[in-house]
Amino acid sequence: MEEARRIQALPPYLFARIDEKIAEAKAKGVDVISLGIGDPDLPTPEHIIDKLVKAARNPVNHRYPSYVGMLEFRQAVAEWYKRRSNIMLDPKKEVVSLIGSKEGIAHIAFCYLNPGDIALIPDPGYPVYGVGISLAGGVPYAMPLKEENGFLPELDRIPEEIAHKAKLMFLNYPNNPTGAIADESFYSKVVAFAKKYDIIVCHDGPYSEIAFKGYKPLSFLEVPGAKDVGIEFHSMSKTYNMTGWRIGWAAGNARVIEALGRIKSNIDTGIFQAIQEAAIEGLLGNQDIIGENRKIYLERQDIVIEGLTELGWTVERPKATIYVWPKVPKGFTSASFCELVLDKTGVVLTPGNSYGESGEGYFRISLTTNTERLREALQRLQDNFGKFEF
Ligand code: MLT
Repeated sequence: MEEARRIQALPPYLFARIDEKIAEAKAKGVDVISLGIGDPDLPTPEHIIDKLVKAARNPVNHRYPSYVGMLEFRQAVAEWYKRRSNIMLDPKKEVVSLIGSKEGIAHIAFCYLNPGDIALIPDPGYPVYGVGISLAGGVPYAMPLKEENGFLPELDRIPEEIAHKAKLMFLNYPNNPTGAIADESFYSKVVAFAKKYDIIVCHDGPYSEIAFKGYKPLSFLEVPGAKDVGIEFHSMSKTYNMTGWRIGWAAGNARVIEALGRIKSNIDTGIFQAIQEAAIEGLLGNQDIIGENRKIYLERQDIVIEGLTELGWTVERPKATIYVWPKVPKGFTSASFCELVLDKTGVVLTPGNSYGESGEGYFRISLTTNTERLREALQRLQDNFGKFEF
């Protein structure tokens, strides 16, 4: 049963590996506190669940769904963008449903990369960008995100021959894992770069609604010319606490959306319609959840930043996302620090290097754990290590 070369070097997904470590620790009786995966612990709003229950009872929804998503779902996505950012989208041509944005992020590479083609990815970055590219036979080219540049890639440092060969560029702001944000002047440079080198921009924006203190992240699609060069991936997961429901979308350039829909219609058969109906309710119904989530995550961010500061850290306070991205203390690598913390305290952190080489020297804390457990995690660090040196 020899595996194909394309998966021989493919490890299980990052968080599948972390789940294994958590299971091992739990089996030894450790009271694990996971600050690992960014998986909201808060429930999906009741009105969305009620809609699912009702829609699940309708036999019309028990048959094959539409491949590219119900028109009503795509209309709701278009309406959501119009309401949020005054972005106009044609729901028939410029929106496609996804079984969670992860699926679309992996499949887009299959639409545009021939073996050996280059695709630009942020480093550190969501692991699926690089994995999708490699599975499609492409070659990921890392754009380092450095703290001194606000964790934005330096487009003018991408070698000319690489830019000419690149077919895709992945970007993600508000950023996972760094919590960084991007402004219009950055995105305008991206659009100009993409036009110059004929590159399709794939902007991944799942954290756009989790922003603090009045900050409103831009959608890539708001930027003049964005729709000429790319698409935005988005999802119900983080905004509406629906990671388990697996529903997202891509929106933007009609040719790219059509290509993604075409590959998907040959591989999957769409999303259970009752889930699409519930998502429509989420997108168009009561939006209180957005403000509630922001308040909860901000309180958690305060606890983490204050706790880390007491332990000796100087940490940047992200304006958005559910993450904090501190440096590892002196004498550690990302992996050695996270391993030691897990062994000594039962607290799970994500090592920065698992998001790419440039993530080395950092670790990520996810704010998807309640305040009591977050305080407990920080207390365990304090009890076991006291102050850290940097
Ligand atoms: C993360 O924690 O980086 C993401 O939530 C993981 C994922 O979406 O698979």
